[in-house]
Order: sequence, then C-alpha cells, then structure tokens
Amino acid sequence: MSIVITVTSGKGGVGKSTTLANIAVGMADEGKKVVAVDFDIGLRNLDMLLGLENRIVYNVIDVMEGKCNLTQALINDKHSKNLFFLPASQTNDKNVLNKQKVKELLETLKKEFDIILIDSPAGIEGGFEHAIAYADRALIISTPDVSSVRDADRVIGIIDAKSEKAHKGEEVEKYVIINRIKPELVERGDMLTTEDVLNILALPLIGIVPDCEKVISSTNMGEPIIRDLKAESGEAYRHISRRILGEEVEYLDLSVKKVSLKGFFHEFFC
Ligand SMILES: Nc1ncnc2c1ncn2[C@@H]1O[C@H](COP(=O)(O)OP(=O)(O)OP(=O)(O)O)[C@@H](O)[C@H]1O
Ligand SMILES: [Mg+2]
Repeated sequence: MSIVITVTSGKGGVGKSTTLANIAVGMADEGKKVVAVDFDIGLRNLDMLLGLENRIVYNVIDVMEGKCNLTQALINDKHSKNLFFLPASQTNDKNVLNKQKVKELLETLKKEFDIILIDSPAGIEGGFEHAIAYADRALIISTPDVSSVRDADRVIGIIDAKSEKAHKGEEVEKYVIINRIKPELVERGDMLTTEDVLNILALPLIGIVPDCEKVISSTNMGEPIIRDLKAESGEAYRHISRRILGEEVEYLDLSVKKVSLKGFFHEFFC
C-alpha cells in the first residue's frame, strides 16, 4: 500500500523543505521506495537540499502536460537507489497545476512508490490546495512561536475542509513536527514549549527538531543532515522517519541540562 504524505505549514520558511528532504532520505534508508515531489512551484529548493539541481531536465509540469514521461523526469538520488525526486518547474506559475492532472500523476506514482512525499507551499500561497488535495497524511511543520502556530492552526482547518478525503467524509491523518526548538529560550519562558504548541493544535506529535546551525550548512551543501550520525538534528529526523513508518521511538531530550553538558565536552549538541 502506498501513501501520499504532504509536508505543509501555515507560515512560510518554517522548515518544510528541509524536513521533507531529510525524512525522504530517512525512509529510503529504512528500505522504502520514496519519491519526493516538489509542488512548491516557483521557488524550487528541494532540488538543492538534495544536491540534485544540476540533474534537472524535465519537471512535474512537463509530466502533467505530456511533454515527457515520468521516467524521464524522475531523478535518482546520488546515494540511495530507493529515493527519487520529481522537480518543480521554476518558470511556470503556481496556478498552472490542475486538480485532475495532479490526481493522475499521484495515481501513477502510487504504482511505483511506497511513499510519495509532497513539498507544499505555505498555506497562504497559491498551489497549496493542490498539494494537500490528495494527501492521506499531512505533516504540519511549526516553529514554537505564536504566529507560526496560529497559521498552522488555520491550515489544519483548510485541510479538514478542502482535501479530497474531506469531500468523501473521511479525514486526512494529521501530525505535528515542531522545528527549530531552542532549549535555552524555552527554559527562560521566551519560547513556547512542546506542550503549549500541542495544546493549541490538538494533534499528535510526530517529531521535535532542535534549532541547529548544521542544518543550514548541510542544506547549503545539498547533503541532508540526517546522514550525519553525530548530529542530534540528524537523529531527530531519523526518529521521525521511523515513527512515520510505524515504529515507536523515544523523543529526544532537548532540555537545557543535556545541552550544556554536551557543550562542556565542546561538542556541537545539534
Ligand atoms: N532545525 C533547523 N535549524 C536551523 N535552521 C533550520 C532548521 N530547519 C530549517 N532551517 C532553515 O530555515 C530556512 C527555511 O527552511 P525551509 O526552506 O526548509 O523552509 P520552508 O518552510 O520550506 O520555506 P518555504 O515556505 O519558503 O518553502 C532554511 O535556511 C533552513 O536551512
Ligand atoms: Mg520550501
């Protein structure tokens, strides 16, 4: 059984594409055949996160418009034979996606892949509704600040109202990932706690990720941090990947105590 998982958020820039690139690698490493589809048309950054930007010839719109076949557009990851990438178009505008064509594309992908991961634009942007339309699951990314959580809450409402599952009287399974947690700020009361966020969103948690410089540098190098076995953020993404696949995995301890102890040994905690 294949599954369509959309990674989305209310506010932009909270870490959707970063999360998606990492868990795509994580689930492929767990043996699943994964395709990462970039629906964030216009920005096209998932390719860079995966280090595949130079290999792009065709994109998702070319496939939908019949300009090439799926095999021509799919790009295999450099490290994993299980992971493929379907790029967004940089030139077409976001309104070019057509619901029927999105449906056909996903039906075709379902025949070949176990996991179809869709990188969505933020909830307020064009193209969002297409990205969530056929989702079986939605991973809602929020940073622990009031505006991000409030916008995430709005997006949950839109998913519940506008997805195909909602039209059929079913529900999209929704989970929260809290990204860029800074333990010192949480301790000082300057950042929402995980409990605060979950109380507002009233959804199950599937991951917590620390704020980490290494995430940014790995992004710039096109090498998702999940492959760094020493980084705690990499571990966070490995855990999320395994939880999505149904394993019970303990949550990381992101308390200040642990962070400063690691700092004492001059290691980068994240
Ligand atoms: N855990 C993290 N720690 C530090 N920086 C992070 C973390 N997660 C994401 N970032 C950084 O935040 C920025 C935005 O991330 P990303 O592009 O993944 O967000 P997005 O939600 O996909 O944005 P958009 O809405 O524009 O598509 C990037 O510079 C990324 O490196
Ligand atoms: Mg993005």
